[in-house]
Amino acid sequence: VTVRLEVEFGERSYPVHVGAGLLANIASLVRDAVGPKAGRAALIVDGNVPTEVFSQVVESLQGSSFEVSLVQPPRGETCKKMEWVEDALVTLTRSRHERADVVVTLGGGAVCDLGGFVAATYRRGVPVVHCPTTLLAMVDASVGGKTGVNLIVDGTLKKNMVGAFWQPRAVIGDVEVLRSLPDRELRAGLGECLKHGLLGGHAGMPELFDWTVARLADFAARKPDTLEQLIAKNIHVKKTIVSGDEREEAGDADGGRALLNLGHTFGHVIEAETELLHGESVALGLIAASVASEKLGLVSGLSGRVRAAVEAAGLPTSTSLPDITDLIGAMRDDKKVMGGELRVIVPVEAFRAGVVHPPLAAVRAGWEAVRK
Ligand SMILES: NC(=O)c1ccc[n+]([C@@H]2O[C@H](COP(=O)([O-])OP(=O)(O)OC[C@H]3O[C@@H](n4cnc5c(N)ncnc54)[C@H](O)[C@@H]3O)[C@@H](O)[C@H]2O)c1
Repeated sequence: VTVRLEVEFGERSYPVHVGAGLLANIASLVRDAVGPKAGRAALIVDGNVPTEVFSQVVESLQGSSFEVSLVQPPRGETCKKMEWVEDALVTLTRSRHERADVVVTLGGGAVCDLGGFVAATYRRGVPVVHCPTTLLAMVDASVGGKTGVNLIVDGTLKKNMVGAFWQPRAVIGDVEVLRSLPDRELRAGLGECLKHGLLGGHAGMPELFDWTVARLADFAARKPDTLEQLIAKNIHVKKTIVSGDEREEAGDADGGRALLNLGHTFGHVIEAETELLHGESVALGLIAASVASEKLGLVSGLSGRVRAAVEAAGLPTSTSLPDITDLIGAMRDDKKVMGGELRVIVPVEAFRAGVVHPPLAAVRAGWEAVRK
């Protein structure tokens, strides 16, 4: 079965297709998304995507009269650099890619972010279709239109400092490509799924957290049907939250898109200070944020459930970290902090989240809960 969801942004609305074996027919889905005028497809692909998947995509596109040009940046996060943006733009220019032609990304969140940014900037914007190949990219990075790359400033990595909001024309999530994904990467994706579970109340799905926790073993075993359901439910949460606040402009009272940063104010610092993956850092951040929320009296008895879920997903529940004072300093440097005041997203009752400017004691308690 294929599930089709619609992400609603007025005239920039687009479909997300989730199913098994969709990439075999990618050309018809791309054609539906970009119309008859597109003659070229620039395929930006991650080197860890298995050759048979990659060949299938190229053959389908060529078989449907797309002229295909290839962009093959380094694997994973290393591709999110200005030099690979330029490399891709040069390839597009050389292959005479035109305004109506399409960029297709085939890879994890890193390739979605790079390829989306390339599409947003080439000739001031050309269509892009994302084919996410990691769980994290399927449930998160491919939907919502945030694109961008990292900068290194005076030796320090600044994540996602350069970018644009650029909605794709379609997203194609083929669960079969998850077969080759390393276990650790699959579990990292589950970290973002637990986050969406904690936000389910904003999308009419307050049961999502418990639903997810009850099926963690099935996801780890990669049962296609349950993965499909998981991905569709998670996209529903993400699209519901982003479509009300496309450019993350909502204030604290609404929260809007910022709510998706649940676990990230702590998580970004953990990601920078450790070797942990993004999804692993976010999972720790969820524990910290729920402890902080309990300390503020906004929720009760949640942090134990979150910690148990993180553990059951095979994700770390604590890690070695620097002094808490330094961690709090690093949180203040996060680009989402306004005017030096800490702004943290925390879970509240009914599987919803809220924006708080917490006293240091609550933030400290959060850090103490995850610091080894
Ligand atoms: N734009 C957004 O809204 C958004 C949201 C969340 C995350 N992100 C970004 O996404 C990135 C993280 O995404 P990710 O976790 O997918 O990381 P990733 O793209 O680095 O992929 C993780 C690893 O899996 C490999 N891989 C990808 N597909 C594979 C497959 N099918 N089989 C085997 N290996 C495969 C990659 O080569 C890489 O080594 C970060 O840069 C983050 O900032 C963006």
